[in-house]
This record gives sequence, structure tokens and C-alpha cells, in this order.
Amino acid sequence: MGTISYLGGHCRKLWCIERDEFKDHLLRLEKTSRYMRFGCEVNDEFIENYASHALDHNCRVWGYFGPRGNLRGTGELKCFANKPGSAEAAFTVEKEYRDKGVGTQLFSHVILSARNRDINHLYVNCLRQNQAMKAIARKFDAGLCFDQGDVIGDLMPANSTVLTRLEEALEDSSGFVYGMLDIQQRWIGLGD
Ligand SMILES: CC(C)(COP(=O)(O)OP(=O)(O)OC[C@H]1O[C@@H](n2cnc3c(N)ncnc32)[C@H](O)[C@@H]1OP(=O)(O)O)[C@@H](O)C(=O)NCCC(=O)NCCS
Repeated sequence: MGTISYLGGHCRKLWCIERDEFKDHLLRLEKTSRYMRFGCEVNDEFIENYASHALDHNCRVWGYFGPRGNLRGTGELKCFANKPGSAEAAFTVEKEYRDKGVGTQLFSHVILSARNRDINHLYVNCLRQNQAMKAIARKFDAGLCFDQGDVIGDLMPANSTVLTRLEEALEDSSGFVYGMLDIQQRWIGLGD
């Protein structure tokens, strides 16, 4: 079960008005992290374009917001429009927040959303040398298969139940309250 409060911050879904927060978070990633996330070198222009579509209707993005309401990590669930029942997940956590379990928390939230959307194949693509991502995928029993330079994690989320739907609904309502507080903190400039 996911925990919404974590390390003095919290996880919640991003709202579509938070595209800029998502973009700024991705822009803060340095060269190697960008390479690990996208599997190739990407410049700021690519990220700006990517972030402008990342909250579209077939995508859910969970965020980890630090104690002062700034976005420091994300877990994306992207449902394939042409392949019902399949989706892709991708993760980023800013360097100062790594190895504290944030990526694992985001992964569990993404799985919850995947279950509730009847996803039975959740793919995570990462580079072969990405030990952290492989470690997280293993925690959730993802099958890892190697394809040239990449590793593809294939996870089969269990079916949704009344409880998983209720859990996500409760997380969305507390996420609403946290979201209002985050926006307020950012407005008055208390960012961490
Ligand atoms: C992958 C990423 C999201 C992980 O975030 P995180 O918050 O550090 O993740 P967690 O702290 O929950 O877990 C990391 C796990 O990897 C393990 N790990 C980290 N570096 C490792 C290494 N070099 N070798 C083996 N295990 C390693 C940690 O020990 C931890 O496992 P544990 O919880 O059993 O101790 C983050 O490193 C990141 O943003 N990387 C750049 C982008 C990326 O690679 N995205 C994935 C492709 S979509």
C-alpha cells in the first residue's frame, strides 16, 4: 500500500496546471540522469516539448513533493492507446533525494493506478547499467529481460478490487489538500 506522506514531503498526482513544475523538475536533471531517463542525450528543448504533453489524458504522473511543496520526483504511467491493457512506467528522482526510498514509493503508486486502469502489462525500459531502476523493478517482482543495450521490466499488476479503487480515491482526496498547500507554499516562495 502506498504512503502519501514521506520524508517530510508527500506523493500525489500532478494536476494538469502543473506542467511547468514537471518541466522544471526534468530540466534540473543533469546530463547522466537525463540519459538514464530517456535512453539518449536530450536537450532542454526536448524536455520542454516532452513536458508539455506528459499530462495528457492517457498519462498519469505521480509526484514526490519535498517539504516545501516543490516537485522532486515523478513516476509516470502512460497507457498505450493502441494496445489496451498495456502501459509504460518511467521514473525520475532528483539527486539529493535519491536512495531514500522515493523511487520505490512512486513505483507503488504507479502500480496502484495501473491496477485500477486494468493494466496487465506494465513495462519499464531502462539501460542495462541502471542498477537503481533494476533494483526497484525487482522489488515488485518485475520480470527483467535484456534487449540489446536495454532492460525491459515487465510487471503484471493484479486485478483491481473495491479496496484498490477506494485506496486511490482516498489518495486523490488527500492529494487535493496537499496540492492546495503546495501551490500556496510555492506562491509565497518557501521553496526548498
Ligand atoms: C532510478 C531512480 C528513479 C531511483 O530513485 P530512488 O529514489 O533513488 O529509488 P529508491 O531509493 O527507492 O531505490 C533505489 C534502490 O536502488 C539501489 N541502488 C542504487 N544504486 C545502486 C547501485 N549502483 N547498485 C545496486 N543497487 C543500487 C538502492 O540501494 C535502492 O535499493 P534499496 O531500497 O533496496 O536499498 C533515480 O535513480 C533516478 O531518477 N535516476 C535517473 C533517471 C532514471 O534512471 N530513471 C529510470 C529509467 S525510466
